[in-house]
Amino acid sequence: MNNRSLFLAKKLAEQHSLKVEEYAELIRYRTDTTAKFLQEHAENVRKSVYGNDVYVRGLIEISNYCKNDCFYCGIRRSNKKCKRYRLSAEDILACCKSGYALGIRTFVLQGGEDSFYTDDLLCDLISTVKALYPDCAITLSLGERGKISFRKLFQAGADRYLLRHETADAVHYGKLHPVDCSFENRIQCLYNLREIGYQVGCGFMVGSPYQTPEIIAKDLFFLETFRPEMCGIGPFISHKNTPFCNMKSGTAELTIFLLSVIRLILPSVLLPATTALATVTPHGRERGISAGANVVMPNISPLSAKTNYILYDGKICTEEEPTLCLACLKKRIDSIGYRIVTSRGDPVKTT
Ligand code: 5AD
Ligand code: FES
Repeated sequence: MNNRSLFLAKKLAEQHSLKVEEYAELIRYRTDTTAKFLQEHAENVRKSVYGNDVYVRGLIEISNYCKNDCFYCGIRRSNKKCKRYRLSAEDILACCKSGYALGIRTFVLQGGEDSFYTDDLLCDLISTVKALYPDCAITLSLGERGKISFRKLFQAGADRYLLRHETADAVHYGKLHPVDCSFENRIQCLYNLREIGYQVGCGFMVGSPYQTPEIIAKDLFFLETFRPEMCGIGPFISHKNTPFCNMKSGTAELTIFLLSVIRLILPSVLLPATTALATVTPHGRERGISAGANVVMPNISPLSAKTNYILYDGKICTEEEPTLCLACLKKRIDSIGYRIVTSRGDPVKTT
């Protein structure tokens, strides 16, 4: 079946699209040859849109309180061993200040679904950050909220929203989440965000429990139809205090393969090489960038937050100072012939 996967890879490189069944075959029958072919083409496509530029997003983990109980996630509400914290508006502003001094021009506020962060609190915070740093973009990653809330936050100045869809298969969604989480609502949130005017990011874990090539094919088809501005993927990694503690992790190999596939489907997508990828393999971020990714997200949270915002076991960079973290990333990106840029890094519009 070597030929079949290579045939499909060539078709994807030419047409930037495959049928759902074809995506599944491409994944199921993939070989090193297919991976290499896709990597080269993805790298070229990425270079033609973004050159050698790699964008930086400063990640601020604002809270690990979460009302949800996702089976895979280390900060799920049932994890009684998780030491909970939340950052105040002042803490967050202090992170922005030091991040700005390091050249960061996008702040990503990420957290569990924590009702402490009301619309009023967040709107105040967002407008303050925008007033202090008008040349910066604000990305929110705070889970599902109502459309009215999304709109208020957008009007206060938020530019982008990350909400991984987690899986595009409703049955699979039900295996990763308790019944009080709704697949339909999650997808609806993504469409609401789009309609309001955000740049929207979705994404999924690679190798999550019960995932099959057919399910990943649905994820890819969803990306192809929804056409997000951003897409976050990283390997699933088990967390010891979750129901999935004994499940095996996703691989770097498949994650990197999919980064190339996604770059070919969406040439101008902003695609991070994630910390999860770097956790499962040395040089994971460098390999991700070389396979088509073009974003890195150094963690600029205070140490107290970093050490407790643990979604999966073995997370790297939880003890590094932001300055060192950024310097380390720069060196890594330089070493593979790319360069970190400090502009806001908005998506390039292509047809
Ligand atoms: N392994 C890898 N990624 C995880 N996430 C949550 N838990 C894990 C895990 N155990 C991802 C989810 C979520 C994002 C913030 O982190 O996809 O959307
Ligand atoms: Fe917090 Fe899933 S456990 S969003």
